[in-house]
Amino acid sequence: MISKGPVPISKNDKDQVKWSESYSLGIKLIDDQHKELLNIVNDIFNHASGNDREEHEYFKTVIKQAVDYVKYHFATEEKIMISTKYREYDIHKKSHEEFILKVLQTAKDYQAGKRLTLTSFGYFLKDWVLSHIAVMDKKYCDYFRGIATKKADGKLHLSLADIPT
Ligand SMILES: [Fe+2]
Ligand SMILES: [Fe+2]
Repeated sequence: MISKGPVPISKNDKDQVKWSESYSLGIKLIDDQHKELLNIVNDIFNHASGNDREEHEYFKTVIKQAVDYVKYHFATEEKIMISTKYREYDIHKKSHEEFILKVLQTAKDYQAGKRLTLTSFGYFLKDWVLSHIAVMDKKYCDYFRGIATKKADGKLHLSLADIPT
């Protein structure tokens, strides 16, 4: 039989989130980190077997990996915001902190026996990451690109003179 359409990349292909240029914020460093976050989300969907015991085992590993990477990514963004004197830094940082607390609370509840599936956890991460990128991250990246100057090699460059006093 001839199969139609692309070969699914996993049994949970429909849940996967593929990187789209519409997610790009024009700063390679940040785009690369967002891609990595989406890779983690896809990895979670790939492990959604429906078997509680298997999912629980995997969750213990992925939750640590996810929290570590999210913290690393947020620290990168916050450094950029501080060094460019971004005015909405406080509110952005608060959004990051609330998200980490929510993820940690979810992990705690799950360990304490609350029912959770990897698919629902994956959706929770995916929805938060995509909407945060589209609204809050887009705002500071637009600001950054607005004050940075483009060098001959096409890369963005910031000098002290670009940063508002
Ligand atoms: Fe952010
Ligand atoms: Fe981000």
